[in-house]
Amino acid sequence: MKIGIDKISFFVPKYYLTLEDLAVARQIDPMKYTRGLMQEKMAITPLNQDTISMAANAALNILTNEDIEKIDLVMFATETSVDHSKAAATNLISILGLKNQTRVIELKQACYAATAALNFAKGHILQNPDSKVLVVASDIARYGLKTDGEATQGAGSVAMIVSKDPKITVINQHAGFYSDDLYDFFRPSHMDYALVEGHYSNEMYKKFFNESYNDFLNKSNQTLDDLKAVTFHIPYVKIGLKTLSFLTNPDERLDLFENFKDATIYNKQIGNIYTGSLYLSLISLLEQGNLKDNEQIGLYSYGSGAIGEFFSMTTVEGYKHHLNKVHHEKMLNDRVNLSIDEYENIFNSIIKNDFIFDDEPHEEIILKQIKNYKRYYEKKNTWKCSFFILLWKRLKNLKNRVK
Ligand code: CAA
Repeated sequence: MKIGIDKISFFVPKYYLTLEDLAVARQIDPMKYTRGLMQEKMAITPLNQDTISMAANAALNILTNEDIEKIDLVMFATETSVDHSKAAATNLISILGLKNQTRVIELKQACYAATAALNFAKGHILQNPDSKVLVVASDIARYGLKTDGEATQGAGSVAMIVSKDPKITVINQHAGFYSDDLYDFFRPSHMDYALVEGHYSNEMYKKFFNESYNDFLNKSNQTLDDLKAVTFHIPYVKIGLKTLSFLTNPDERLDLFENFKDATIYNKQIGNIYTGSLYLSLISLLEQGNLKDNEQIGLYSYGSGAIGEFFSMTTVEGYKHHLNKVHHEKMLNDRVNLSIDEYENIFNSIIKNDFIFDDEPHEEIILKQIKNYKRYYEKKNTWKCSFFILLWKRLKNLKNRVK
């Protein structure tokens, strides 16, 4: 049975900061960020978006009633969860109107969890061929103001529907793994930001790539010639390019370098989105690149702590007709460029409780309120409805007072 990605989409919040502005504010040569890291912009979340609302916005874009009828497993991959106990996937049941007869779970292993989720989804479809699985990867990557990692922040979500006879890619059988116990990047439970050994984490990323890639080649009996593109977990674009350069060079495989460029167009404009980064890169490759039908893509997933997995997918006939390129490009182009002061103000006003959002929302789904640490979400149309109800009540009160 062929199992894989039937639909895929991403969501990015409405604000961004250019890395040039960040560099100037931090008295750093902008070339360090734009050439040294190969990043242009980083996405900033407004106060009314969190990992849950972003994931819901990404999923809303691809879900139909028929999907909702068939989805019986939702896996939410994140490393910036809003609750230590309640799985964010439970919130999606109400926000997206999913069936109650659905298994829900949140998964964590740094930036890797969505890859595990795809594999679990494959197993689920093998046992239940007519069902569908919703996998979401959603994170807000924050290192803190004026830290070394600041230029590699970002935010966003990817949503994927996994099914049999998928319309976009088939997930192939073989996967290579490498895992070990280390502290390159981690976030103890009481801390708001991750602790990171930046250069050590880069070394581990590359080491785990080599190990898992070789394990994949051994298991699959394939060579680099079988792959038409290689995509990577992209904390910043340069690390992916450097890792690809270990495999080959543009004189031998120009196609891999051209495909890498297409595969990082979106990541360059958004920054690191942790669990979703690899899949954002996959979307960029599929939408912006020229891969033909039935071509094999290698994918490197890395989760600090750490695990590396190298696996592959093959494009499905006609896959280009099932993407969301126009919507994604519009979402990126419609964003608002923040000044450094606006960015720092948002950063310093993150609210954990007693929050109510009153302005007209820009996104389809927003975090409306946090009360007694419980989070309440609202859809745009419902918001308009409640606005008119409120207005009507206020007018009625006024009329009564005049009487
Ligand atoms: N013009 C052009 N290039 C310049 C430059 C200039 N003026 N100044 C510096 N550069 C280059 C450097 O030569 C370097 O490039 P190379 O690596 O090719 O030599 C690049 O810019 C970055 O410079 P530094 O290494 O000096 O930068 P840094 O020490 O300030 O930090 C970082 C870079 C370690 C990535 C840091 O941003 C960081 O800690 N980020 C968070 C951790 C991270 O992303 N790790 C990645 C692997 S772990 C992972 O993948 C999990 C995850 O998602 C976090």
